[in-house]
Amino acid sequence: MKTIDINIKIGVCQPDELPLEEQKLIEQAIEATKNSYSPYSHFSVGAALLLNNGEVVMGANQENAAFPSGLCAERSAIFAAQSTRPDQPIQTLAIAARNGGGLTPQPIVPCGACRQVILEIEDRYKQPVRILLYGTEAVYVVRSVKDLLPLQFVSDSMK
Ligand code: THU
Repeated sequence: MKTIDINIKIGVCQPDELPLEEQKLIEQAIEATKNSYSPYSHFSVGAALLLNNGEVVMGANQENAAFPSGLCAERSAIFAAQSTRPDQPIQTLAIAARNGGGLTPQPIVPCGACRQVILEIEDRYKQPVRILLYGTEAVYVVRSVKDLLPLQFVSDSMK
């Protein structure tokens, strides 16, 4: 059997190794965790998006007693941005999370549904979304959601 070899490189660094604009975006994701409504999981996730025009849009996870009715921080931010500024591609997305013990030591990564939504954004605007995953011990830097979702289903897949 042949194999398909997929080479994925994820950067690992401390926030101060990143450009100031990205450090600020991480701070905004951390700030956004405070807007989480998560009485069920007690896990507060914050997302901050940098649009091509320099604007930042923030989002936080919103839960519901009817469980599937809630929404992750990433999609809250992305759909807010898309609903109000549909002409603006998303350049960078920063994500941070807090549990009962404070900010998570390890970077938090988007769930599968959020990865698929970020993929649709890349496909829509033909531009990769840079993703900064914050943890107090390290930040992961992902060049495109394709590195988190190596085999992709997009509109062209249906042709
Ligand atoms: N959550 C996010 O907001 N983003 C993620 O990347 C993973 C999970 C939320 C959903 C739910 O409100 C809580 O975290 C626990 O799963």
